[in-house]
Amino acid sequence: MNVILIGAQGSGKGTQAQFISSEMNLKHTASGDLLRDAIAQGTPSGLAARPYYERGDLVPDEVMVGMILDAISDLGGKAGLLLDGFPRTLAQARILDMRLAERGQRVDKVIYLQVPRQQLVERLAGRYLCRAHGHIWNIASLPPKTPGICDYDGSELYQRSDDTGEAVARRLDIFFTETITLVDYYAQQHKEVTIDGSGTIEQVHVAVRAALR
Ligand code: AP5
Ligand code: MG
Repeated sequence: MNVILIGAQGSGKGTQAQFISSEMNLKHTASGDLLRDAIAQGTPSGLAARPYYERGDLVPDEVMVGMILDAISDLGGKAGLLLDGFPRTLAQARILDMRLAERGQRVDKVIYLQVPRQQLVERLAGRYLCRAHGHIWNIASLPPKTPGICDYDGSELYQRSDDTGEAVARRLDIFFTETITLVDYYAQQHKEVTIDGSGTIEQVHVAVRAALR
């Protein structure tokens, strides 16, 4: 089973993916996590992606697509893919369809996490990630037991460089003008399920799990 999570920044893709990937034995591949790793390591792809990432713009396909196709080439023993943050454009969706078709596979299910814009901005303002593994926390809705420290691995928490000011507005604009068209693309193929992502993390989790059953 290959699943895509679509949702604006702060809609809870990464949060829900942490649960669903282990429950359904899917390989969680997050384009943003791949970029943050590449930027932190200073690889050529990371260096090329960095200015786009920090402005909140889409990273060009020459950099992004290769990274994703590489990451999904091996399932590592998992039963399928759980894609988070990719595809974001119709061109990327078509490339993914082609690559999966080459291995006799397809996109099976697409979950759209729908959340009002004001709530997205509030969630991003309170988001912290852990340095070691990118576990996601929130000072309002999901605080760690010890402020500034990840409950799971004890590493330090930090705020993403694109979670502030103009980059947030830019990312939301791109989502609601460009990426949102993918919802129709997959709805026409009868693969898309829209879920109300504005409830608590647990409420959304229950709904996502039901949609994937
Ligand atoms: P990426 O890292 O994918 O960021 P994003 O799409 O902007 O999404 P986020 O990670 O911000 O949100 P999320 O939905 O995962 O929310 P989360 O679960 O963390 O991409 C970053 C950048 O990389 C892009 O801007 C672009 O530059 C580049 N890029 C990535 N993919 C690309 C592509 N395909 N092509 C080109 N460029 C690409 O939750 C947010 C917060 O809310 C957390 O604090 C969480 O604890 C909290 N929270 C979650 N759910 C709830 C809930 N139900 N109630 C209350 N709080 C909640
Ligand atoms: Mg994310």
